Amino acid sequence: MTKNPIILGIETSCDETSVSIIQDDECGIPKILSNVISSQTDIHKEFGGVVPELAARSHVEKINIIAKKALKESGIKLDKISAIAATAGPGLIICLSVGLNFGKALASSLNVPFIGVNHLEGHALSPKLHNKLDYPYLLLLISGGHSQFLRVNELNDYTRLGTTIDDALGEAFDKTAKLLDIEFPGGPKLEEFAKKGNSNRFDLPKPIINKGGCNLSFAGLKTAILKITRNISSQKEKYDLAASFQKTIEDILYIKTKIAFDEFLKNFPVKERTFIVAGGVAANNGIRKKLIQVSDENHFVSIFPDLKLCGDNAAMIAMVGLEKFKKKRFDNLDLPSNPRLALDKKAKFLKGAGVQL
Ligand code: KG4
Ligand code: ZN
Repeated sequence: MTKNPIILGIETSCDETSVSIIQDDECGIPKILSNVISSQTDIHKEFGGVVPELAARSHVEKINIIAKKALKESGIKLDKISAIAATAGPGLIICLSVGLNFGKALASSLNVPFIGVNHLEGHALSPKLHNKLDYPYLLLLISGGHSQFLRVNELNDYTRLGTTIDDALGEAFDKTAKLLDIEFPGGPKLEEFAKKGNSNRFDLPKPIINKGGCNLSFAGLKTAILKITRNISSQKEKYDLAASFQKTIEDILYIKTKIAFDEFLKNFPVKERTFIVAGGVAANNGIRKKLIQVSDENHFVSIFPDLKLCGDNAAMIAMVGLEKFKKKRFDNLDLPSNPRLALDKKAKFLKGAGVQL
């Protein structure tokens, strides 16, 4: 076995089939030897969203090819792999099973440890692929399925400070994009639309902005946009609505992040004020700028993953695998996939009508 462990990571929780090989390094930042990502956008486009059965079928068709490609690009032979890490949840269960079972079979045949990874922990640790980072830090995780402020205490040790009580931020972007007739996946394209519009044209609501601490809510925003879209038709008005949506989100995140900073500092004294923003929506340029601004104003150092590592990818899964490998936290081959895996297992369920904030 090589001195610096080499981890093969696998990600199939939703609509990206990805395999990555990373190697530990003395400098504290692992080397990404390969990170092959195959997106299924073309398959789901005509349905306007991810169709689980089609996603799983595509993972089955591609996983072997993607794994071979990742190995070839890395220049690493299979017998040099120290451990296999695969996403165990959360995600679509039939999609998770493909990568998890492939990973288990590979680990078993190579006789190396198998490590199940929480997909959200992958996002949480993704900045570690390019930055030296010490625990604890404050994390804002904004993806297609989750929006949470968390204190990252240690590997596998999270305290949730706030969460969305309805839609995730990526979901709000995608649903708004759909209402504006932007084709799937709408989030990134909506940002382009927004650049062409007047952000002061529509006054949109900021749900629970004055209550609920750093909890978030986006569903009311979507309803307001639905009502406006019924009365607009020109392209210019659509650009203006996209710009107003983008600005409203930036303002909500600015205010809620300030609250999260206070909660992070109040409850847990820290030496370093580090703020990590991760997940697919962390690729949004306007949101990045606004969160850098609020961090600077409050003396936090803000760190974002590389743009390529914001969306789903296997390098972030291998990153968690590497940290677990060093602590010898291995899993048995009967580890089940868990579509509802959480980061803070003690946190209260805060979704749905009548939720008490
Ligand atoms: O983390 P991710 O790749 O998958 C999940 O784990 O959910 O996040 C995907 C989400 C989608 O909702 C997508 O529309 C959104 O991230 N997204 C963006 C941008 N790029 C991706 N939302 C806003 N602006 C972007 N530039
Ligand atoms: Zn994700």
